[in-house]
Amino acid sequence: MERKSWVRAAVAVMALAMAAMGQHGQWVTFGHDAQRSGWARDEHAFTPANVGRMGLAWSAALPVQPRALTALTAPLVVNGEVIVAGASDHVFALDAAAGRVLWTRALPISRKMPGPPSWLCPNNLNATPVADPAHDRLFVLASDGRLNTLSLRDGRPLLPPLRFVPAYAKDWSLNYAGGMLYTTTSQDCNGAHSAVYAMNPDAPGHEVTVFWSAQNCPQGGFCGAGIWGRGGVAADGDCSIYAATGDAAFDPGANEFGSSVLRLSMSLALQDYFTPADWKYLTDKDLDIGNSTPVIFPWQGRTLAAVGGKGAVVYLLDAHALGGPDHHRGLYLSPRIGNDAQLWELYGIWGEMSAWRDAHGQTWLLVPLWGPTASAWQAPRENGPAPDGSVVAFRVVRGEDGGARLAPAWRSANLNVPDPVAIAGGVVFALATGEDTRQAMHPVSLEELARNHYRQVIEKRQDLQAGHAELLALDGETGRTLWSSGATISGWTHFSGTVVGAGKVFVTTHDGRVFAFGLGGDAQPVAPAAAPAASVNQPPAPAPAAASGEAKGGGGALCGWAKETFAAVCANCHGADGKGYAALHTPDFTDAGWQAAHSDAQLVGAITHGLRQEGYMPAFGTSYSAAQIDALARCAVRSFAR
Ligand code: HEC
Repeated sequence: MERKSWVRAAVAVMALAMAAMGQHGQWVTFGHDAQRSGWARDEHAFTPANVGRMGLAWSAALPVQPRALTALTAPLVVNGEVIVAGASDHVFALDAAAGRVLWTRALPISRKMPGPPSWLCPNNLNATPVADPAHDRLFVLASDGRLNTLSLRDGRPLLPPLRFVPAYAKDWSLNYAGGMLYTTTSQDCNGAHSAVYAMNPDAPGHEVTVFWSAQNCPQGGFCGAGIWGRGGVAADGDCSIYAATGDAAFDPGANEFGSSVLRLSMSLALQDYFTPADWKYLTDKDLDIGNSTPVIFPWQGRTLAAVGGKGAVVYLLDAHALGGPDHHRGLYLSPRIGNDAQLWELYGIWGEMSAWRDAHGQTWLLVPLWGPTASAWQAPRENGPAPDGSVVAFRVVRGEDGGARLAPAWRSANLNVPDPVAIAGGVVFALATGEDTRQAMHPVSLEELARNHYRQVIEKRQDLQAGHAELLALDGETGRTLWSSGATISGWTHFSGTVVGAGKVFVTTHDGRVFAFGLGGDAQPVAPAAAPAASVNQPPAPAPAAASGEAKGGGGALCGWAKETFAAVCANCHGADGKGYAALHTPDFTDAGWQAAHSDAQLVGAITHGLRQEGYMPAFGTSYSAAQIDALARCAVRSFAR
């Protein structure tokens, strides 16, 4: 039964593709299909033997205004067109063969932006659109939360915009499966709590159904359980959809599902869930698994789901019995493959895994991993050192008990912050985004603090970016690099994805460009890119033992010095008002309860030796004298309580 519907779905996709494109495939939704496989099984241009001849076919600059880290969504490839949506509510269709703009559409916006965009809440068009070629229509979710239905042919609106999610929510890729449209929300941006949204675009009334993943929100506060996989939900072709949630409590009785994988019906009734047994550890350490949409794929007559997270464990699940009877047991949990430090930024699995089947019937799972692999873990074949990130490949194999297992196969060459991959013709196309993903937690020098570097990281991460993206073609069997775009791609990109269709590979960048690579390589290179960025994920040198405040110390002046130093150095992370930043895990010094719970000795200890509980608090013991540190605790930290 499951198998049958998979075969039916595959046959339908093949027939559509063959009719429309001959030997070339389409890519109509994030991750190629509703299952988010990343596998362009209908694209036949590429083989491991010919990708060495790849080159830039064209690049096009589009007039889009970036919002914080975002500019263009991952592309779609439909009917020989490349379609991308821009953060500033624009949609562009380009001729896939030559890069000529065929049509553009500025979406009508009904509500004013509530404030300036920030990287956590970009107030943008964030969801990758989805195409429905059978009905010549494209669904696009605008920043104001309204669903736009456009003609694929010329971008003409086919319906007035329909309210779908709250305005300026942070929503993720649309999915269209079984006649239903889905999206998800995260980060509680502008009061939009984490949820899955569904709508039948053809039903009269366009009723919207919602499933909230977290319930116990503090008054007006942050609920968590964000469903922030770029792919939104995945669908299995059997009328169920799957979502992974981020940090929050887990309390099924109260409908509170942090750090879980959920299976919902088309009408968003909860059918099943998987919650790792160590969910509390994951949530406490901010290692959420909600940052990757589960990939759904067939294996030996069963339907499997795979998901990862910042903790760098791969969870392999039976899609139709997610966590077993107690909801905590998956089919197979990999050893930790990365993020030795178990930090909440820079490392681990960020973004969707992909699944494909080779000509011998072997099923593969491909995992994009940020940062180095774990010191205690090795792939049988490694393709050189990979300090900044890599793609890790597993074979799906039968274990001794007959169930599915993962067997490590290879690890790619270094990829400076990899995006989810695309697979076509036995070739794995992997994109190193070139993004500097630091949010806060790297050892920092007083000089950096004095330059307000931290405040910039919190407020303007996009302005600190200096890298550029690089596309690699890897041999699907061995991970060997067959071809690289080198310095051809001029800009970096954030949370995007590689796309294959119409005989080409497409990439979008933050500077508003679309790059198309194909066989033949007869095109002109674009303007030379900057030199490859150094390992941006390597922490900079530790703070020097300089004593910038030493001379100003002494007597009653110490209190004044402490206040000045707090404003110049500490406020970078604690805020000038002492209230802290959620993104940095800094405490709220104005909270009387917090003050009462912390002794003077504790404050002095933390300032002297640093603290790495939930965030990163640097040690100042080598920079300031004991008297100065005492003054920082007494005159600065304590002053917020009064
Ligand atoms: C790079 C960011 C950063 C800077 C700069 C910084 N802090 Fe912190 N601080 C933190 C974080 C994050 C925490 C919470 C640490 C945790 O829970 O792991 C913290 C916690 C603290 C605490 C509470 C310790 C406890 O026991 O809970 C005090 C007191 C403190 N900082 C004082 C200071 C002072 C004084 C300065 C300036 C000299 C300063 N901090 C500079 C990030 C920073």
